[in-house]
Amino acid sequence: MENLFLQSPSTTILLGTLGILLVLYVFFPNFDCQINEPPGLRPLPVFGNLLQMNLKSTHTTLYELSKKYGSVFTVYFGPQKVVILAGYKTVRQALINYAVEFGERHIFPSGIDLNGSHSRGIIFANGEVWKEMRRFALSNLRDFGMGRNAAEEKIIEETQYLIKVFERHDGKPFSFTQSINYAVSNIICSIVYGSRFDYSDAEFTSMVDRANDSIRLIGSPSVQLYNIYPWIFQWVRNRMRLRKNVAENQKQIKQLIGRLQETLNDQIRRGFVDSFLAHKQNLENLGITDSYYNIENLMTTVGNLFSAGTDTTATTLRWGLLLMAKYPQIQDQVQAELSRVIGTRQVKAEDRMNLPFTDAVIHETQRLANILPTSIPHITSTDLTFQGYFIRKGTAVIPLLTSVLWDESEWESPHTFNPAHFLDKDGKFLMRDAFMPFSAGRRACPGESLAKMELFLFFTSLLQRFRFTPPPGVTEDELDLTPAVGFTIGPTPHELCAVSREAFQN
Ligand code: HEM
Repeated sequence: MENLFLQSPSTTILLGTLGILLVLYVFFPNFDCQINEPPGLRPLPVFGNLLQMNLKSTHTTLYELSKKYGSVFTVYFGPQKVVILAGYKTVRQALINYAVEFGERHIFPSGIDLNGSHSRGIIFANGEVWKEMRRFALSNLRDFGMGRNAAEEKIIEETQYLIKVFERHDGKPFSFTQSINYAVSNIICSIVYGSRFDYSDAEFTSMVDRANDSIRLIGSPSVQLYNIYPWIFQWVRNRMRLRKNVAENQKQIKQLIGRLQETLNDQIRRGFVDSFLAHKQNLENLGITDSYYNIENLMTTVGNLFSAGTDTTATTLRWGLLLMAKYPQIQDQVQAELSRVIGTRQVKAEDRMNLPFTDAVIHETQRLANILPTSIPHITSTDLTFQGYFIRKGTAVIPLLTSVLWDESEWESPHTFNPAHFLDKDGKFLMRDAFMPFSAGRRACPGESLAKMELFLFFTSLLQRFRFTPPPGVTEDELDLTPAVGFTIGPTPHELCAVSREAFQN
């Protein structure tokens, strides 16, 4: 019986094929390399290169690998092949010169969970729906926010609420996380819904808390494993919580949209939602009922703006204040500049050009904090040859922002907090090409100008009024700059003191 099995023609073909595959695997680990695919670690069947990855800090593993394999290399997340683009010159070349080829979004399983759907809204969509929603969002962000005055007024108003919260702590240590999240989130709420919310409004605070929790969850190792092996890890606790958070937030967004719809007025556009609803109505009046302007797309786009616009900016601001407490001499210089140029009046957006040191500190915070280290993964829209390597259509791509913001050939001291990176020899602000925390090209962050204005106005207004220090008994050296685990990387939970500057100087 055994002999018959071994001698049957189909068994011979099977064993022969396996033998050839084994030889190819041993001698040509990257046997597609006949067509010169990007180099990389030899993947194991099923596991790929997972055993060599630190899923709590994927970007640092990839950064280290780039030193060995160069600026275009391959990593296997389980069976999923991912091309990593590393270093300023390569990332820029790919996203700008090959904008179309590298310009689509890789829609991974937890991205669909976070989006609440497949291919709706902006972040996790491609093709026509993405183009239309992004274009509409950008033009409305301009009308309701980034068109300078509107955003500036909203941020300045919000700064006052945030300062009151800080004052209430009377110089005692506390965690800034929630209040900063609420303040930053209110800017997006004003733009999207046309109104801010009180920090004691439980409906609002739970929505912000859930959005931030969700972004942390998609960076957790168990949810990353779910992205790689969805069938096996679909029931992990963190993914279940992510889905619950998103479902609850979608329910709340729907209610908020419903309230705005009931009070929609032809003469006044309170925010993005009103504009969207009015546009939808106009199309329907023309008999067009199958456009992208439907409630599902509105809910997803609002959810996208809310989560992308809150966590990123708030996390950067928290890094900024932590770095000020860690490096008091730099804080001294910021406060001296603010006192000299502004005094006690309200800082305005136009003051930025007269505050070069402060501006350099904010840019350096963004560079070192590197809060979206793997950007949001892309996918190739076509077969292409890039830097001599062949990359197939549909290959996931990570433009590794860590390798740009910490590029050793671009920055004088990439791993230290050094505002001089952004100053010329006369102390004037110097923009650097490799400053790319918002990515570049077709998918570049549409909220960049808004985020920059928020960072500038919140940071300067807080530093005008408060001295940031470690809690009593903790030295500056003991303040921990190790990042927490997450999709956006924030500081490890900590407390600081916000001491009124008058009290501090007395
Ligand atoms: C410090 C703050 C921020 C940082 C560092 C940041 C960074 C980024 C990065 C790296 C991307 C991915 C780009 C790519 O795929 O190549 C992105 C995308 C995006 N950001 Fe931001 N962002 C910030 C604030 C904001 C704000 C305030 C908004 C909302 C107004 C926003 C909305 C978005 C959206 C909608 C996308 C998806 C774009 C697309 O897929 O076409 N971001 N952001």
